Amino acid sequence: MQYLGGHMMRKHPVFIVGNWKMYKTIVEARTFISSLVLATSHCSIQIGLAVPFTMISAAADAARGSLISIGAQNLFEAEEGGYTGEISASQIKDAGGSFVLIGHSERRQLFHEDSLWINRKVKKSLSEGLRVVLCVGETLEQHQAGQTQTVLRDQLTKSLQGITPEECENVVLAYEPVWAIGTNRTATPEIAEAAHQFCRLTIAELKGSLVAEQMIIQYGGSVNAENTAELLVQPDINGLLIGRASLTLESFTKIIQTCTAQ
Ligand code: PGA
Repeated sequence: MQYLGGHMMRKHPVFIVGNWKMYKTIVEARTFISSLVLATSHCSIQIGLAVPFTMISAAADAARGSLISIGAQNLFEAEEGGYTGEISASQIKDAGGSFVLIGHSERRQLFHEDSLWINRKVKKSLSEGLRVVLCVGETLEQHQAGQTQTVLRDQLTKSLQGITPEECENVVLAYEPVWAIGTNRTATPEIAEAAHQFCRLTIAELKGSLVAEQMIIQYGGSVNAENTAELLVQPDINGLLIGRASLTLESFTKIIQTCTAQ
């Protein structure tokens, strides 16, 4: 393996994504995004908002011409057909979405998505030209049992199988320890960095050191304006995936300003 660790890398352009989960109305989304566009007009980092399906179109309209990209939180891998209640990659693009979260732990846990299913979703998204934010991470029990690396290796190997190194250019990883999501129990910068380094080493093994070096790896799990700086200063943390703190304009803008100042 040629990959030599984060210290050898150039720092990536930071990519911050807000995950709105099942929150907000269309009117609220429009107001939020119009203000966010103004508040971030001077920023040079990449910003994304993963919004509920119903407001992708309105959100994309409100973000047009800005550096904010709009994405979805899930999709189904078929082109079209009798899949009541599902949404396809081309429908997300049609509505103005440019990226999609795949494999969020809430999808894995509440809706029983496993890594092989997630792999089909990743393949379909990439073939349709959607950028993928692929979420991985261990549960509390796995963390306490010292299984973090085994779990991450398994999730990465299965979720990315059959994806070429070229296709990986459109993949962003999000390491989200499940025990840190929605709990106010952020991973320490050291724990997060160790997991990110391990993910990058595994990507190097699976897809080559160039892919590993260039891949943006976000951290997610109870990120807020106070812990942003100490996380982002870690060499292998290139962005953040933010749930609750992306729901209010004040906290999300503060995080973005902290990232811009780094
Ligand atoms: P949180 O959620 O920031 O509210 O912990 C993160 C996520 O679920 O992506």
